[in-house]
Amino acid sequence: MKPHLPSSPDMPWNPDHYLAFGDLRLRPALDLLGRIPTRDPQRIADLGCGPGHITALLAERWPTAKVTGIDQSRPMLDRAAADFPALSWVEADLATWRPGEPLDLIFSNAALHWLDDHPRLFRDLVDNLVPGGTLAVQMPNNFAAPSHRCAYEAAAAGPWSECLAPLLRPAPLLSPQDYYALLRPLCGHVEIWETEYLQVLKGDNPVADWTRTSLLVPLLEALPPAWQVPFEAEYRARVAAAYPNERDGHTLFPFRRLFMIARR
Ligand SMILES: C[S@@+](CC[C@H](N)C(=O)[O-])C[C@H]1O[C@@H](n2cnc3c(N)ncnc32)[C@H](O)[C@@H]1O
Repeated sequence: MKPHLPSSPDMPWNPDHYLAFGDLRLRPALDLLGRIPTRDPQRIADLGCGPGHITALLAERWPTAKVTGIDQSRPMLDRAAADFPALSWVEADLATWRPGEPLDLIFSNAALHWLDDHPRLFRDLVDNLVPGGTLAVQMPNNFAAPSHRCAYEAAAAGPWSECLAPLLRPAPLLSPQDYYALLRPLCGHVEIWETEYLQVLKGDNPVADWTRTSLLVPLLEALPPAWQVPFEAEYRARVAAAYPNERDGHTLFPFRRLFMIARR
């Protein structure tokens, strides 16, 4: 089955839940940040900034830059503005967002996989850079993993299937080669890599706890309350079987991510 992903419109992201796995979610952002050439970007946008803690790292690294976080989730932006009031926060849908002026750095960690039509999206992003500007992107690339497969299977395995079917969409990511072919004619330098993190989680069913704060959010939100509990129970049972405990009681959750740095 082709990997699918829920669509994101109006997802009620919860900053507290999302930050629960903060360390593991921070690591790829730091790996991406570490590869951005040290220059002196003055205008920086963080697309899909969420609770803003990574946006704040961009501001720390380039303290003279004007750094703006963009997100469509009000609760995420409220949290970002409360924790980092000195930075700028803009509520917008990235599908239609355009910066007021070309940017020196467009950064996006774990957000652009919620958007479709990547050929158009990435061309538009490069268009929004000054000549010499940098696009730096990280996206999860594990849509065929059991954590996701179990969600599609559970979505199809109950009276809620008709309700959830419209939310499942083909995973939008291109292959690394296709991103290279797309970006190279537009950019002088293109660097793409993938990393699979062997995440070590604690708890009874920690993979289900992880996806509950991301992948499952739009699915649960779409269901009437009477179906939320049985649907999640169906999902949790499948995930627990797919990710058994190790002998030390921990659970291994391999997680593949795709990284790109492109300089216009
Ligand atoms: C997984 S969180 C990542 C947050 C942050 N970049 C980080 O790495 O911690 C994804 C974020 O993308 C935002 N998002 C998803 N689709 C979006 C869209 N179409 N426009 C704007 N933001 C979007 C969500 O609201 C959410 O805050």
